[in-house]
Amino acid sequence: MPISTPATAAQAPFDLWALLRSNIRTIKPYSSARSEFSGTAEVFLDANENPFGSPTNALGTNGALKAANAYNRYPDPLQKQVKARLAAVKGVEADQLFLGNGSDEVIDLLIRAFCEPSHDSILITPPTYGMYEVSADIQNAHVIRVPLLLDGERYALDVEQVMAAVMPHTKLMFLCSPNNPTGTIFPTTTLHEIIHRFRGVVVVDEAYIDFAPEHTLIHDVQRFPNLVVMQTLSKAWGLAGLRLGILVASPEIVRVLNSIKPPYNINTLTQQHVLRALEHTDWKERVLRITRQERERLARELPTIQCVQHVFPSDANFLLVRVTAPRELYTALAQAGIIVRDRSTAPLCEGCLRITVGTPDENTKLLEIMRSFA
Ligand SMILES: Cc1ncc(COP(=O)(O)O)c(C=O)c1O
Repeated sequence: MPISTPATAAQAPFDLWALLRSNIRTIKPYSSARSEFSGTAEVFLDANENPFGSPTNALGTNGALKAANAYNRYPDPLQKQVKARLAAVKGVEADQLFLGNGSDEVIDLLIRAFCEPSHDSILITPPTYGMYEVSADIQNAHVIRVPLLLDGERYALDVEQVMAAVMPHTKLMFLCSPNNPTGTIFPTTTLHEIIHRFRGVVVVDEAYIDFAPEHTLIHDVQRFPNLVVMQTLSKAWGLAGLRLGILVASPEIVRVLNSIKPPYNINTLTQQHVLRALEHTDWKERVLRITRQERERLARELPTIQCVQHVFPSDANFLLVRVTAPRELYTALAQAGIIVRDRSTAPLCEGCLRITVGTPDENTKLLEIMRSFA
């Protein structure tokens, strides 16, 4: 029998069990060596690891193995230490956290958990982050697109259009706030209304929320069982290379994702380094302050440049900028060693480049090159 969430049954209770793919409801997760035994012991002969250490930690001078930089053991599959620390930093419970190899893995797992190939759909609101659609395509889930409203000056979500587009088998809705590539933060009341009316899962992607922390929905997860919030350490925390995506959801949804994730999806180096990095909230706050100042400087100065037609308001660490000759400007910047993102052919982004806020010196250089562009 097909799994469905009737769009009309607005007040029906959220039923996670019914929304899940039928095979996922009863899936038997892989039982890894480290999930079967996670205590301390002298000798581990349970996981076919290498007892001699790793190449970077060969035998020490006294013949003993050095513990530091040894990666011969599998990591904690449930990342308990990292989650305990992140729970404290984020003000949520550890059992509300799921960690992915970047948010991209979280997106992929959500779609695999809920969307029956060729049958179920996700809803997105373009222009938005491209991986929702790619992951849906891989799963062969349908993609319903409800474009944002654009009045020429700013983008907005149209709740009625979004809700009207929901189909009986729409399982997930991805709403990115602040939105990539527009920088738009959607009003909390708008998001709440959609979460309230949609009987599937609303995934609010807050990859850029550290730049506008007062707008987070992370604490609403307790109130809305169909709300899932994604964050990442790739942006404000400066750890894109480590790959750590964070999902905050009900413990029930977290359990489902744990049952289908690769057993050791967060590697040891990442777990160790994140624990150290999270101590440096002062660093993050300083970087956020500078980034916001620089974003405002760019937003002030870019419109004074001849080729710039419009700078969209942004609550993220980038600006979407409409220019007269996007491709030519892109090339001129690249020749000067500055790479920006050309979004000019994306629907509703015609003529636009997406420019990440750089360091003060990088931004000065960007402005110089753009001023000299005829
Ligand atoms: C909106 C949004 N979500 C998710 C991601 C992916 O984040 P991660 O590096 O955690 O995979 C990005 C990356 O640019 C993004 O812009």
